[in-house]
Amino acid sequence: MDRPEERGGAQGHPSQRGSAASPMIDSAPAGGTQGFTPKGGLQAFATRGTSELLRELDELKRQHDAVVLAHYYVGAEVQRAADFVGDSFALARLATTVPQRTLVIAGVSFMAESMKLLNPDKRVLAPDLSADCPMAHMVNPETVRRARERYGDDLAVVCYVNSTAEIKSWSDVCVTSSNAVKIVRNLSQHHVLFIPDEHLGRYVARQVPEKHVILNDGCCPFHAQITAQEVRALKQAHPDAPVLAHPECASEVLELADIVGSTAEIIDAAAASDAQEFIVVTMAGVQAELERRCGADRRFYFTGTSRCPEMDKLTLEKLVACLRDGTGEVPMPACAGQAAATLDRMLAYAAR
Ligand code: 13P
Ligand code: SF4
Repeated sequence: MDRPEERGGAQGHPSQRGSAASPMIDSAPAGGTQGFTPKGGLQAFATRGTSELLRELDELKRQHDAVVLAHYYVGAEVQRAADFVGDSFALARLATTVPQRTLVIAGVSFMAESMKLLNPDKRVLAPDLSADCPMAHMVNPETVRRARERYGDDLAVVCYVNSTAEIKSWSDVCVTSSNAVKIVRNLSQHHVLFIPDEHLGRYVARQVPEKHVILNDGCCPFHAQITAQEVRALKQAHPDAPVLAHPECASEVLELADIVGSTAEIIDAAAASDAQEFIVVTMAGVQAELERRCGADRRFYFTGTSRCPEMDKLTLEKLVACLRDGTGEVPMPACAGQAAATLDRMLAYAAR
């Protein structure tokens, strides 16, 4: 497992430490929606101003042969306006199969950049180029260089999809929270440097104890702020509610969870459960889809820190504006060849 002296360094973030503890973590049931939701009937939710924007969006999508892909953390209005809503992996895979020439990505910048890497011939639009996941930058190249020097060919550098194209280009394979365990388990190398997310890395290490996983000092500042104390208080108030948690949370939080999984796996697990209430330990953007899938009579309780301010930058107005004005086009990153290979390997390894 991780050894403290083998930690990599992060660049400028509030690092949160997890404690060592027991690996009691179930994975969410397989199946469900394949990680994404096709949308429709959105006019039913619309106010008058929103209706006009939705009509304009529909017209612009037709004119530009465009499809809108949204992550489960963006606001409910943007999710309703999207053609598909999904977790990171489902959106990346789906983007390679949709027929439209223009992809509008309602998510943070690494998502739009990944779509461009995977679809070099398509036009990819990011409605707000400033929406940036802070964790995506939290790796120092020296960390990767040192690990490669020490372990040579028996090291795989595994990078979470929440990373810049440059970081992907230093790595051997990319993963998301829904496929990280499977991909790491099947790697031929014994040593794994997991970047940038320490918490997902530790979760993977506990699921795959036969590998030597080296952790990096990076995290999602919003998931890392969620405390075990808050979750215990919610459990006390709602003793019958299963706890569904995202693996970007610290290990002492995950130890309290009944299910650990990606956003789509959390939603699938709730939809498959008979429980009437749930404690949901991730960003509250998932609530829109939880309510849609589970019905209005179920209750979902979130911790205090539960919005991603970067995902909240995406608005319906910005979706319309980028198509209308042709703004936010994502360029092909400089290190495209290596970064795209890392993403391609994820799609191939996840399908095995
Ligand atoms: P998912 O892959 O679970 O959608 O997570 C993306 C993310 O950014 C979590 O913070
Ligand atoms: Fe990044 Fe955290 Fe927002 Fe996910 S929730 S996009 S990891 S800042």
